[in-house]
Amino acid sequence: MSGKSESIKIEASASMSNLGSGFDILGISVNIVSDEVIVEKRDDKKIIIQDIIPSDFNIPTVVEKNTCGFAVKSLLDNYDIDQGITISIIKKLGIGSGLGSSAASAVAGVCAVNELFSLGLENKDLLNFALEGEQIASKAIHADNVAPCLFGGVVLINNYEPINIIELPFPDNLYFTLIYPDIEIKTSQARSILPKEIRFGDAVFQTGKTAGLIAGFYEKNIEIISESIEDRLAESYRKHLIPYYDEIKNVAFENGATAFNISGSGPTVFAVSDNYATAEKIGQIIQEFLYGKSIGSNSYISKVNPNPPRAIG
Ligand code: HSE
Repeated sequence: MSGKSESIKIEASASMSNLGSGFDILGISVNIVSDEVIVEKRDDKKIIIQDIIPSDFNIPTVVEKNTCGFAVKSLLDNYDIDQGITISIIKKLGIGSGLGSSAASAVAGVCAVNELFSLGLENKDLLNFALEGEQIASKAIHADNVAPCLFGGVVLINNYEPINIIELPFPDNLYFTLIYPDIEIKTSQARSILPKEIRFGDAVFQTGKTAGLIAGFYEKNIEIISESIEDRLAESYRKHLIPYYDEIKNVAFENGATAFNISGSGPTVFAVSDNYATAEKIGQIIQEFLYGKSIGSNSYISKVNPNPPRAIG
């Protein structure tokens, strides 16, 4: 991409954070829907958010209050770029979905600026700027959506200060069924209900599961991955925000799921299986179950998406 381009459009994918036992430290990129961000050079020095589509999401258009706008401004300021830009954001990911919507817009924005101004920055350089944007939405620093969205694949954040990530291998036949019920959960709210301290026994349990999950990815072993997806940090507190959570979880296991948990802070939940047919069946049966309770939902099937954001225009 030449620095002479006047505009660029980037798409950045959905992601699932936590993965049950990796609260705030593990996330994967999934191939279901992507947010798109268009950044255009202006003739003045202003940074303007021109459009957010669809408009009924009520996302702030003030740059400093918008995840994408803040991330982009912070990147431009850091490199002393005073050329103005116009930003347009096409939200294909629902807000408060548990699918990394705010992270995807922030990541797409910083990737677009990197390309448009030919900054030549690597993903690890862009990470902190996208994170600053994400923080606007969740009121906390957690990189488990931003990092997998930016790098693709399965990402472990093994340190926060300074931030460091490790990209993990993964089995090719690892299938996720994602069920997104028609409700919104704000990450800030879902974080506020978590306890400030946990019991020592739970810490030991959780450490074992997290270590097992990482071992499972390195071994590319779905059995180890599945038995390691158990969470004592957030699930029991957050499940009350998701209608019929326990029932849905039982339905998933009865229909072949090998693991089940909340995607990020919900309401999207995910089930693990090792083949497409089972993944599809789980999705259909859970959607039927929710429909019977008058709750609409979307269902998606994805393997791990290995791809980082890409220019589409
Ligand atoms: N790890 C974060 C949380 C992700 O669970 O609060 C939010 O999407």
